[in-house]
Amino acid sequence: MRFKPAMRTWCSGAVLALACAPVLTQAQRDLKPGALVEGPGKSLVQAHCSACHSLALVTQNRGDAEHWTGLIRWMQAEHKLWDLGSAEAPLVEYLATHYGAPANPPRRQPLQTQWREEPD
Ligand code: HEC
Repeated sequence: MRFKPAMRTWCSGAVLALACAPVLTQAQRDLKPGALVEGPGKSLVQAHCSACHSLALVTQNRGDAEHWTGLIRWMQAEHKLWDLGSAEAPLVEYLATHYGAPANPPRRQPLQTQWREEPD
């Protein structure tokens, strides 16, 4: 069967959408955007992280404890986020556990490119 151009566009769009879909766990897939995965520390994130922006901004982000702590320091320095006190450790633990860096990043490593020598 020959694909008409419109159909081809539709197909490549669908393939692209699948290829670019973020890697989500089943628990995350069942939630509405911005809803938090169940777990210890969830209520701390809900309380501290939804005052200035949507929690969707939080749940679409990924990283290890260092990444989340860095974001917190940045918001404290630039955006008047308060000192989280004793809430910080369990809050970061929750984020790193449920919104950690994916084990299989959807994007491949850069190719090992070798440039040719310039001719004299
Ligand atoms: C006092 C206000 C405030 C609070 C509270 C706050 N943030 Fe933010 N946050 C900001 C602002 C301002 C931005 C930048 C928004 C933008 O660029 O549009 C931001 C951006 C972000 C981003 C996106 C960063 C990026 O690279 O685009 C993430 C993720 C985030 N916040 C997580 C959190 C988490 C987690 C908490 C709870 C610990 C939190 N925020 C609490 C003000 C706040």
